Amino acid sequence: MATDSSEAPFTAKLRAPEALTFDDVLLRPKESHVEPDEADTTTRVSTSVELPIPVLSAAMDTVTESTMAIAMARRGGLGVLHRNMDVERVVEEVERVKRADELIIHEVVTADPEQTVRDVDEMMEEAGVSGAPVVDDAGEVLGIISSTDVRPYLEVGERDAVREAMTDEVITASEDVTPREALELMYEHKIERVPLVDEENRLTGLVTMQGILQRREYDAAARDPEGRLRVGVAVGPFEDERARAVDGAGADVLFIDCAHAHNRDVVDAAREVADGVAADVVVGNVGTREAAADVVEFADGIKVGIGPGSICTTRVVTGAGMPQVSAVAQVADVAAPRGVPVIADGGIRYSGDAIKAIAAGADAVMLGSYFAGTDEAPGRVVTMNGKRYKQYRGMGSVGAMQSGGGDRYLKEADEDEEFIPEGVEAATPYKGSVESELFQLVGGMQSGMGYVGAETVPAFKERAEFVRVSPAGQTEGHAHDVVITDEAPNYSPDR
Ligand code: XMP
Repeated sequence: MATDSSEAPFTAKLRAPEALTFDDVLLRPKESHVEPDEADTTTRVSTSVELPIPVLSAAMDTVTESTMAIAMARRGGLGVLHRNMDVERVVEEVERVKRADELIIHEVVTADPEQTVRDVDEMMEEAGVSGAPVVDDAGEVLGIISSTDVRPYLEVGERDAVREAMTDEVITASEDVTPREALELMYEHKIERVPLVDEENRLTGLVTMQGILQRREYDAAARDPEGRLRVGVAVGPFEDERARAVDGAGADVLFIDCAHAHNRDVVDAAREVADGVAADVVVGNVGTREAAADVVEFADGIKVGIGPGSICTTRVVTGAGMPQVSAVAQVADVAAPRGVPVIADGGIRYSGDAIKAIAAGADAVMLGSYFAGTDEAPGRVVTMNGKRYKQYRGMGSVGAMQSGGGDRYLKEADEDEEFIPEGVEAATPYKGSVESELFQLVGGMQSGMGYVGAETVPAFKERAEFVRVSPAGQTEGHAHDVVITDEAPNYSPDR
């Protein structure tokens, strides 16, 4: 005889709701007037930070340090610095990103008028600059010296004072100079750098031709209101000091980095971090609508992903998880009406997965394995069986936890104790520059927008519909019944 579910609580559990992931769905093609190249990928990663492309590199120690963050921001995305480094180092990393394409250099390498020519030459080489303003003790600009003034020591001896070798007719400008005005000055006077001075002729900064041209090259970069590159930083839920330090250093978005943020202590701590910093705070990871409801009040963004990552073993180790497309949709149902952006983190192998995540309600996607094989990721290239690889490891792997990331999994970070890992250490094929990876990723996403007929990310989120895919449909969707002879830059059947 049938029993009703209230009398049969355990068997009732077996009528479990279905949850879907990337391979379970496809975007339903729709009539379109949108050419892929015209699709505008501008999005928001958090309530006040806009990005030209909806792509983030993961906060992992084999993916994002300042080199990756600079490359991502220059191309319109966002790198999130990992937290397996001490506070002092992460502050330096933030500063490195912020200085990368700075129009006005504020920490200027300067020369002393009494220094010898040989000294200044060595100093400039060490600092990687080819010229330096010469200032006196009061900071007043007396001249400018460049490598051409000191090499090959034609008119001045190595031991002569800088004062004798420098150019003393210096063209200066004030701090409010625009890039165009600075360039005009440089062309007019055939110079490559313009020191900026205050009313007393004291040095306040420097503008260089190289800096201006570099900014022109990256005209679609993700920049803060001062024109510096954007950067995100992962902070542990209980790491107040790190949060305050990177906030002070100019980080744009802090990412509360926790494998299961729907935990009372983590939610309370995250709220405190959000209250105490100027930067936007994205809270994660979560994977259900209840979790989203608990953080949406104070979060500037919500990051979604419980166990979808390529190096994650959370689901098999803990038995818990949420297939990613359903997780994103549940969170977006709560976050979107409140105007809080959603980031889909993990499990994205192809550009098609990335655009499906957006269709499910995400505003941006975060990827680890996709970028770990690039030149800009930390770590060196190794060769195995004649193929080139780079190391890629989960932040919950034994190696990464030993380097300091244990509390992401709400475990005590004690080096002597045995860990219960939730990730593996792996190798990923070497891929060359991140630029070509991003080109393929974003280009594929734009093509997806074209198939749905949506010109912008918000329009795409509204217009996109899914169809369910059977196992036979999945097989049909991959290259099949052929032997692949040439690798495509955006497709490998075993990703
Ligand atoms: P993908 O699939 O892009 O995933 O390589 C990257 C995301 O995976 C998460 N992550 C982990 N999850 N164990 C986990 O369960 C781990 O060791 C681990 N390390 C990273 C993280 O959210 C990352 O952005």
